[in-house]
Amino acid sequence: MSSRSPDGSPRHGIEAVSAAVLAMSRHREMRDVLHTIVTSARELLDAEYAALGVPDDHGGFAQFVVDGVSDKEWKAIGPLPRQHGILAAMLHDPAPQRLADVRKDPRFGGWPKAHPEMSDFLGMPVVDGDETLGAIFLANKKCPKPQDGGCGFTEEDEALLRTLAAHAALALTNARLYERSRELTIAGERARIAHELHDAVAQKLFSLRLTAQAAAALVDRDPARAKGELKEVARLAAEAADELRDVVVELRPAELDEDGLVATLRTQTRVLARAHSARIGFRARGMRALPAAQEEAMLRVAQEALHNALRHSGASGVDVRLEGRGKGAVLRVCDDGQGFDPSAVRRAGRHLGLVSMRDRAAGAGGRLTVDSAPGKGTVIEMEVPGG
Ligand SMILES: Nc1ncnc2c1ncn2[C@@H]1O[C@H](COP(=O)(O)OP(=O)(O)O)[C@@H](O)[C@H]1O
Ligand SMILES: [Mg+2]
Repeated sequence: MSSRSPDGSPRHGIEAVSAAVLAMSRHREMRDVLHTIVTSARELLDAEYAALGVPDDHGGFAQFVVDGVSDKEWKAIGPLPRQHGILAAMLHDPAPQRLADVRKDPRFGGWPKAHPEMSDFLGMPVVDGDETLGAIFLANKKCPKPQDGGCGFTEEDEALLRTLAAHAALALTNARLYERSRELTIAGERARIAHELHDAVAQKLFSLRLTAQAAAALVDRDPARAKGELKEVARLAAEAADELRDVVVELRPAELDEDGLVATLRTQTRVLARAHSARIGFRARGMRALPAAQEEAMLRVAQEALHNALRHSGASGVDVRLEGRGKGAVLRVCDDGQGFDPSAVRRAGRHLGLVSMRDRAAGAGGRLTVDSAPGKGTVIEMEVPGG
């Protein structure tokens, strides 16, 4: 940013403010915005030093950006200032302060040893409605001291800084909103990827482990079958790698596109049945094709419900059923295992799979019910509306 016109002379008035504001609006990171404001203020008002402080809630400054002080000098000054003296007054009283000599002000409390000497002082709060977002400070106007011993900064300077502070308030508010929305996006994205990984890859790895165990158990007794199981291990590992890639590039499972929901789920239950001692049944009735997002949600929920039944319930039998209902469909996964208390699991906070099933159902415009109690087995039911 430069507040000088092409011929090198300082810009003035609206042109200079406009150049500064444009520079500010290009930056969306809080730190950059603050820096641009401070540099603009110092150049526009021809001051030796400029600073902008954004207070925190603990009597200090969350941000304190300076211009006109070298890195070395800044280090020598020591820790960030606390909110006291003139700085504090600026944050609590929204009136600007224009002083001929800041050191003679009754509120002046001295400064650290390495702090540069300052006399002329112009302070302007940065306010948004009733809230003081921060304050801009300028010191040492670069001009001969006025004859009357008054402040080097003029009323005109004050008016200019007020305009700049109003734009700074806008820029700061925008920067805050931008950072907040970015945080939310990142948090949402992280949750989504965690769910997808849990759904897709964790389950494939679980099948893989079971199949490898089956192979190990068979290797002495029936080497030929063990060999078959090992081939299955290789296939599952390849699938897990594919799923992982799919999560990353946001593709839906390839089999769904090629074979549809019924065939895909039938194959997957068969694979699981081979790897597990529980009896696993699959039946489909009156199913029509569903919108892609609903098929994918059904498949993911079925996978999670199946794996939960196999991993947690100790069931001797698990049944997966798909049934057409109106334009939509219903999925039921039932096991005759030990059951659990869904509200207790929720309270314990360890239920990413259950949360993910609900999210998937809701995301596809459907609903999900979990019917389970200790000693009673579990029924997961999901209905989607179709298209
Ligand atoms: N079919 C089921 N039978 C018995 N317990 C289950 C069943 N499904 C889920 N649970 C219980 O609910 C808990 C949470 O399940 P879930 O959210 O899928 O997480 P995870 O499978 O990663 O443990 C499980 O740890 C288990 O205690
Ligand atoms: Mg689970």
